Amino acid sequence: MKILITGAGGFIGSNLVKFFSKKNFDVIAFDNNTRGNLKRIRGLKNVKLINVDVTNINLIRKHFEKFDIVFHLAALNGTSNFYNFPEKVLNIGLIGTHNLIQISKEFQVKKFIFASSSEVYHNPKIIPTDEYVELKIPNIFNPRFSYSLSKIVGEGLVVNSFRNTNTDFLIFRPHNIIGPEMGFEHVIPNIIQKLSLQKQKNNNLNKFIIEIQGSGNETRSFMYIDDFVRALSKLSFSKLKNEIVNIGNDKEIKIKELLKIISNTLKINIKFTKTDPVLGSPKRRSPNVNKLKKINFNSRNSVTKSIQLTAKWYWNFYEKSK
Ligand SMILES: NC(=O)c1ccc[n+]([C@@H]2O[C@H](COP(=O)([O-])OP(=O)(O)OC[C@H]3O[C@@H](n4cnc5c(N)ncnc54)[C@H](O)[C@@H]3O)[C@@H](O)[C@H]2O)c1
Repeated sequence: MKILITGAGGFIGSNLVKFFSKKNFDVIAFDNNTRGNLKRIRGLKNVKLINVDVTNINLIRKHFEKFDIVFHLAALNGTSNFYNFPEKVLNIGLIGTHNLIQISKEFQVKKFIFASSSEVYHNPKIIPTDEYVELKIPNIFNPRFSYSLSKIVGEGLVVNSFRNTNTDFLIFRPHNIIGPEMGFEHVIPNIIQKLSLQKQKNNNLNKFIIEIQGSGNETRSFMYIDDFVRALSKLSFSKLKNEIVNIGNDKEIKIKELLKIISNTLKINIKFTKTDPVLGSPKRRSPNVNKLKKINFNSRNSVTKSIQLTAKWYWNFYEKSK
């Protein structure tokens, strides 16, 4: 089995590379080191890491082979990037995806798997949200939506480019995947960093204060990275083809419940204060995961356990780096 993973140095990509390396697959890993951490996959068995910018079609063609599966994950992720570099987000999302599709067609790849996002739903009317609800860009002038726009158009490119070809496709929409080394911009690393800074200022603090954006009643559904990788692998080798599949956990939790789990995990008291929600940030998010259930996928880690594992990892990380 010979596979290509783009965005291989990222949070999801590096975990996928490790998983397939252990399974003795031949893995070609593309990344241009924009955001990820290539140390995580350097020197792994059966893995060849190549510096390829997915917006450069000649470089992609130069290093391409007749792959069984292409996992196209490369993207400019991270909310601050959406606000600060929306044009770049769109360039990498659209030109990168177009390039990978064209070369995959030239080489007659067997299966093309594209990483979309739960962001394509924005504020969905139906919760849990299935894959057939409408996709939405509520305000084209808000740069935040550069990312979801790139994913919606990316999905459209995939669906329409592989019609009448020998390449099957799958599109997956991840919903808040968490775990060690997930970066520093997501809600959990963010909260833990604030707690750790407060502890640094006052070691005997008995009440920590966290300011949250919104009322605390906003919801998210978290899935642990190990479960995510198992789900994606199971999906990739299932009979499903030419479909769009949510990957995540359908248990929805409120941000104030998330804080409670973190406070119990770290054995500290946390009081939260509220500020205005970020414009464009969805109020509720929870995927319908019936398609995953149909292929008999079950998560091994509960939402609470997933949050505990992630919170502990980040707490130790920040404490050690003092
Ligand atoms: N992590 C999540 O919860 C989540 C949720 C929804 C969607 N996704 C999607 O899943 C995919 C992987 O996400 P992630 O969390 O691992 O993101 P990440 O930012 O950790 O990884 C993305 C990787 O792509 C690389 N990259 C960026 N621009 C590139 C370019 N021009 N050429 C080559 N490589 C480039 C980066 O260097 C990075 O290593 C992305 O497409 C993301 O949009 C992730």
